Amino acid sequence: MNNTSLALPSHVRLVEVGPRDGLQNEKQPISIADKVRLVDDLTRAGLAHIEAGSFVSPQWVPQMAGSAEVFAAIQQPGGVTYTALTPNLKGFEAAMQAGVREVAVFAAASEAFSQKNINCSIAESLTRFVPVMEAAREQGVRVRGYVSCVLGCPYEGEIAPAQVASVARELFEMGCYEVSLGDTIGTGTAGKTRALIEAVGRDIPRDKLAGHFHDTYGQALANIYASLLEGIQVFDSSVAGLGGCPYARGASGNVASEDVLYLLNGLGIHTGVDLELLIQAGERICALLGRENGSRVARARRCA
Ligand code: HMG
Ligand code: MG
Repeated sequence: MNNTSLALPSHVRLVEVGPRDGLQNEKQPISIADKVRLVDDLTRAGLAHIEAGSFVSPQWVPQMAGSAEVFAAIQQPGGVTYTALTPNLKGFEAAMQAGVREVAVFAAASEAFSQKNINCSIAESLTRFVPVMEAAREQGVRVRGYVSCVLGCPYEGEIAPAQVASVARELFEMGCYEVSLGDTIGTGTAGKTRALIEAVGRDIPRDKLAGHFHDTYGQALANIYASLLEGIQVFDSSVAGLGGCPYARGASGNVASEDVLYLLNGLGIHTGVDLELLIQAGERICALLGRENGSRVARARRCA
């Protein structure tokens, strides 16, 4: 395939968020050993960027309570980045104690979602991130930024692209090296995705943006393809389509990493990830959790 004529990138970086965005929403207890096994399996599959946990309030998200132990136990070969969510300075300090070398802060483009998710307004959340950014800069830690509800909010409905652009710009200007645009409830479509990237891309170079698509409406792969055409080269995904969002009822998991990889492989786009090992990682965690595998590719391979 001639990717030049399609204006597609030759490489894409996949950010695997299954151990965080996926497991945070599972109901049953998951042992530290099982979480560690999942991260190690993903490392073995060739993922170079893995979000392995979060340092948030255990009252709010109990499933992430053992993140320090997870970071202590996972294999961390050179060249692979392991990140954690940190909503405030307390979370950042806990992450540093656990030896985390890259963190992510998360804001929303919707006021109502911001209140439900982190118990403060958008403006307050951005103010809270300032000392996190300062501390990170002092310690040489890179910070990624997320914006939630970029293509719709479970409480407010439609969100204007200009509102997303404004929050994304604030995160970028305060020092986030990359801003991941989160379609938290998966209501986005390819057309809206392109319009969003055009709006956000006026202020932030497109090579500093990432796509984070939940697959609730089955649109995530189409949205990723639309994003690729708009010059986006980083995508978040979750092995076996694990997860959802505890503060967005009905939201299903991120698009399955296996399905994204199958799409990219078909386009001749290099990721460095091994599809068979990724499928094995997804099958193993699904068996442990006793849940159906959300990856269409993994399910198809079982029958092949
Ligand atoms: P709060 O209750 O307003 O916080 O929660 P507070 O500052 O008033 O403190 C209350 C208690 O929490 C205190 O403990 C603090 O010490 C403790 P107490 O004195 O009562 O014993 N606390 C903490 N404990 C551990 N770690 C911390 C921390 N901070 C305070 N970092 C807070 C505010 C932000 C902490 C809370 O709302 C929270 O943790 N929210 C996390 C929500 C979350 O993790 N959501 C899921 C991740 S976001 C997501 O999935 C979207 C994304 O995938 C993109 C997309 O799809 O859109 C990224
Ligand atoms: Mg998410």
